[in-house]
Amino acid sequence: MSTFWSVWVIVLTLANLALITWVLFANRKVAVDDQAEPENKTTGHVYDGIEEYDNPLPKWWFMLFIATLIFSVGYLVIYPGMGNFKGVSGWSSVGALEASQAKAQEKFDEHFGKYLDMPIEEIAQSPEARKMGGRIFANNCAVCHGADAGGNFGFPNLTDNAWLYGGTPEKILETLNNGRQGMMPPQGPVIGEEGVKNTAEYVLSLNGLDHDKAMAAEGQKVFNTVCMACHGMDAKGNQALGAPNLTDDLWLYGSSREQIQHTIRGGRTNMMPAQKDKLREDKIRLVAAYVYSLSQQDEEQQ
Ligand code: HEC
Ligand code: HEC
Repeated sequence: MSTFWSVWVIVLTLANLALITWVLFANRKVAVDDQAEPENKTTGHVYDGIEEYDNPLPKWWFMLFIATLIFSVGYLVIYPGMGNFKGVSGWSSVGALEASQAKAQEKFDEHFGKYLDMPIEEIAQSPEARKMGGRIFANNCAVCHGADAGGNFGFPNLTDNAWLYGGTPEKILETLNNGRQGMMPPQGPVIGEEGVKNTAEYVLSLNGLDHDKAMAAEGQKVFNTVCMACHGMDAKGNQALGAPNLTDDLWLYGSSREQIQHTIRGGRTNMMPAQKDKLREDKIRLVAAYVYSLSQQDEEQQ
């Protein structure tokens, strides 16, 4: 504010205060004049025969006016209000905002900041942190993995302790930060329709599901030349590739013969979106700890 406007504001403010004070005292009557003629006891206003008495302000009201005047002078001394004068307290709305932001940040750091350096295993131990992680999960992950993290067709169950990419804290963080791209190339063109049907029977047999023994035996030969490269020698999967274990009777795409054949014939591509640019690091750690704790619970129950 330029000096002119500053002075302008100060003069106006003080003039206003002085005016109000003058009006207050100039109109002050101490008491009704009992000796006065009846017509002098009223203000002289008459409306429809109703007259208005000229009584003094009630004392409490008058004192209230005085109190607000004193308050306003005190306020203008302590807080900014008189042009460029900052008030003796140095208060400013920017300062107040900064102070409340600093307080919020402090509270926030107390809540989240501490999880930045804490090991995931340790975060997973804290019921409070698991609760926060659960909320982050509900908002960001449940659409795909289900509200209970139990998975959906094509979306892995995160509670079963069977992992495409590994369930250690490091692997879970890697999955969340960078996302994952599961890719099984179509095998139909490689092994033919007979190969597809036979290997499907073999996969069914690995899980103790109803299957054709002769076809499964043929399928095993194909499996050991073509599929083993990704799904492993004992078909237990390969976490480096995200190739699932085919012996645990846990399925991304269901255990039906049709789906298994469909996967083998046409392959599958699947994507877990990277969260690095969507969620802050502390939130990723909290939700990672939540996911980690889900599989730990599963272990305890077994
Ligand atoms: C758009 C859907 C989608 C969203 C949102 C999503 N995911 Fe996923 N997630 C997937 C898919 C699909 C896979 C499997 C990828 C594959 O098959 O390669 C996956 C895989 C994973 C895995 C690896 C599981 C394993 O067995 O190794 C974890 C852990 C995971 N997600 C956690 C999360 C968390 C935590 C969130 C929320 C921050 C989340 N996901 C959000 C679709 C999603
Ligand atoms: C190049 C590596 C690769 C080869 C070769 C491969 N797979 Fe896969 N397979 C994968 C990956 C990766 C997935 C998981 C895809 C996903 O995340 O959606 C998968 C998924 C599957 C599934 C689905 C499992 C479920 O839980 O629903 C079946 C069944 C399967 N493969 C069988 C086979 C058979 C049989 C062969 C050989 C004919 C084969 N795969 C060859 C990488 C491979």
